[in-house]
Amino acid sequence: MYKDLREFIKGLEAKGELARVKAEVDWYLEVGAVIEEALRRNQPALLFENIKDYKDTHGRKLLVNTELGSFKRMLMALGLQEDLHPMQALRILKDRCRQRIKPVMVSSGPCKEVIEHDDKVNLLEFPVPKWHRLDGGREGRDIGRYIFTWGAIITKDPETGWINCGVYRGMVHDGNKMGVALIEKQHAWLHAMKYQAMGKKSMPMAIALGCPPVLPYVACAPFPKGVDEYDVAGAIQQAPLEVIKCESVDLEVPATSEIVLEGEYLFEPETFLKEGPFGEFPGTYLRLQSIPRNVFQVKCVTHRKDPIFHGHMEGMGPHVAQAKSFPYLETISLWHSLEDMGVPGITGIYPGDSLGVSHPIIIVSIDNMYYGHARHVATALWSVHGKEHTSKIVIVVDSETDITDKNAVFNAIAQRLRPMEGIAFFPGTIGGALDPSVHPDIREMTDQSGRWDRVLIDATWPIEWKPRLEWGGQKHPIYCSASKELLEKVRQRWQEYGLK
Ligand SMILES: Cc1cc2nc3c(=O)[nH]c(=O)nc-3n(C[C@H](O)[C@H](O)[C@H](O)COP(=O)(O)O)c2cc1C
Repeated sequence: MYKDLREFIKGLEAKGELARVKAEVDWYLEVGAVIEEALRRNQPALLFENIKDYKDTHGRKLLVNTELGSFKRMLMALGLQEDLHPMQALRILKDRCRQRIKPVMVSSGPCKEVIEHDDKVNLLEFPVPKWHRLDGGREGRDIGRYIFTWGAIITKDPETGWINCGVYRGMVHDGNKMGVALIEKQHAWLHAMKYQAMGKKSMPMAIALGCPPVLPYVACAPFPKGVDEYDVAGAIQQAPLEVIKCESVDLEVPATSEIVLEGEYLFEPETFLKEGPFGEFPGTYLRLQSIPRNVFQVKCVTHRKDPIFHGHMEGMGPHVAQAKSFPYLETISLWHSLEDMGVPGITGIYPGDSLGVSHPIIIVSIDNMYYGHARHVATALWSVHGKEHTSKIVIVVDSETDITDKNAVFNAIAQRLRPMEGIAFFPGTIGGALDPSVHPDIREMTDQSGRWDRVLIDATWPIEWKPRLEWGGQKHPIYCSASKELLEKVRQRWQEYGLK
């Protein structure tokens, strides 16, 4: 486990998973282009140490691509052994995400090395990139710089004290204002509704940038309402997070954060400013127009000396597996929900590789137990509350298929699917609003929720088939590959054969 971002950086570097970029790079679009090309070339995480216009500023370094597109780096961030098989990792995480380890409160911490209030606050002291060309709605250095792309946005339920962490993008408006794209029904939005019902004009909010690497993953996953996500982060890393009180709002933040922004999320429409568009995770812009949104008024900034600004570039077009690692914890909460609904026989659940936050493809493996089992799984999945924007395509395979291996899944579809029986449509459901297959007219017609026609691809062997002599007494043709035992023996002797 890495206690803070700096330990994580050391860990990455020791394993050859980090490159320091010493050449001068412009925060305006060049950073984004370098990231895109680096991902295409399967490069490590990048620490930019020489950023144009950021030589004598509070923040001079930018860290990107830490977990993005790399399963190994994601496992490291979550404090797991990096050579775990993806299914082993999922099973460990599935157990840990049911546990809770409360944070410990500390009275001092590195995030307080520098403290600046009110008119001393300047968000542009940190090297915030303009990630994509039309972020903010047009080209230009004066608009569309997204300061919050990765980290944790912290709010508290004013009635119960439930602390939530979320990832909701944030665009700089000026030195002390940023727009936060908090979508309806997100947990921080639920908190905001309560403050509004109490007649408040704003909600206290804190933003931790460059926090312990486990936290952003937890923040971007939909853990149930009422669950303190600090407790889940502690459970995943099997050690409590250290938190510290904010200076100007009644909230706690990770004490080792690189940068903390404290302030108020404003409710009154006359305070709204235009935010977006932003290159979204599918690699497209939802629309090219900005829309008025709530502002986060920053009252205080605390940070480490020489802080490392941590960000993630999201959308990059279809050619880069950009969000490869984001939805793992989201998949786990889906698995938990199916378990809680009592759907039997599920042996694995995995997001397809064309990933984003609302992953459109979900692959599930089952011990096929009864007629219609795959349909039961798909309909249950589509009914899980809070997951309405995921799983446009559900693929169900037998448990012997390795669902983390695309080839194995394609093979199951090719060999076991009987299209008339195995493909089932579930039309006219709520959809993923950011999915490029949703036409703007449909988005408008559905009040922005989108519409999907969902599909199940049942690639399991038919349960109703009976054992046959030509299949050696099995219920389906048997494979001719070597036995597991023999393959294991061969693997052990591999070097002896003189093979690589
Ligand atoms: C990189 C990234 C960017 C995201 N941007 C937003 C966003 O701008 N607005 C939003 O409401 N959700 C966004 N999400 C999704 C939320 O983080 C996700 O729905 C999460 O479950 C929210 O936390 P909550 O369930 O505690 O509300 C983003 C997720 C990721 C990984």
